[in-house]
Amino acid sequence: MLPKSISFNNEELVFLDQTKLPGETVYETQSSVEHVWDSIKRLKVRGAPAIGIAGAYGLYLSSKTLPRDSFVCFFEALKATAEYLDSSRPTAYNLKWALDRMLATAKQCQNHSIESIIEALRREAVAIHEEDRELCRAIGNNGLGLIQDGMGILTHCNAGSLAVSELGTALSPMYVAHEKGINFKVYASETRPLLQGARLTAWELQQAGIEVTVITDNMVAHMMDEGLIDMVIVGTDRVAANGDVANKIGTHGVAIISKHFNIPFYVACPASTIDLNTPSGNEIEIEERAPDEVSHFSGRSTTPAGVNIRNPAFDVTPHRLVSGLITEKGIYSNPYAEKMKEDYAR
Ligand code: MRU
Repeated sequence: MLPKSISFNNEELVFLDQTKLPGETVYETQSSVEHVWDSIKRLKVRGAPAIGIAGAYGLYLSSKTLPRDSFVCFFEALKATAEYLDSSRPTAYNLKWALDRMLATAKQCQNHSIESIIEALRREAVAIHEEDRELCRAIGNNGLGLIQDGMGILTHCNAGSLAVSELGTALSPMYVAHEKGINFKVYASETRPLLQGARLTAWELQQAGIEVTVITDNMVAHMMDEGLIDMVIVGTDRVAANGDVANKIGTHGVAIISKHFNIPFYVACPASTIDLNTPSGNEIEIEERAPDEVSHFSGRSTTPAGVNIRNPAFDVTPHRLVSGLITEKGIYSNPYAEKMKEDYAR
């Protein structure tokens, strides 16, 4: 059974606290919109599709507490709450995409009672969650053909079940291949500074019975040189209109090394990650996180006091380094930008 990062039952929104994995499995009921914001900010819930789903449920739950005097009043407050939730993390498009979709739902129902608008918001949040399950399964089915018996596959960060509703994006083809009895090995780069690869990808693959080896981020070239890696599959937080992809810091380096060794480098994502309004990777806002994530490890300082620290959480891989984009519609081989735009124009 794959772990579920988000569940919503009987009006109760529960996140698996991913900051505590793999040591502790702690589920936390979200008590307010501020609580949801904080859970996203602190990466208790994380991964582009998952924060979109979390934001949608957070907005729905807060809509029940907003002023009901008139639609205008209600909608203004809803919009402000959506902006607040969106401010938690800037890079993943899925969060804004889900919140915009919730706002559009409220607008469509503006001639109905506030009670029925709130009910429509509940249905929309559940639909976003459900659809993500289907999209992830389709990504898995579409990427399945890339995985051959005996392969070594490298992934960076965590784009698995924990990062979405179910299955994952980058890990979805691996779960589907495993279901079909194909044997392969996964190499998970640890993903400094917050260790999503070592803590989360390794944990969920191990739970699923898929062979996984953790390496530090600086071992990628060496593993490729040893001939252990046949393909790379990673997730993404935002795909720009020209096909550039933002993903966890370190992804760009992995793509450059893959090019050097002539190893296919694939990126997997659902429609909710494709942002045709952002022309290229240059315009993607890269989240800069707190310096202590770099200067401290396991609560202990690992750098001299007062030294300069940088902590960008993501980087942009230029589209020319991406062999193909695995989506719910199929695999787009490079150059894919024009075809992707045609298929995803909304
Ligand atoms: O900072 P995180 O852990 O939220 O970063 C997550 C990633 O970079 C994932 O690769 C990306 O969101 C895709 S998740 C399907």
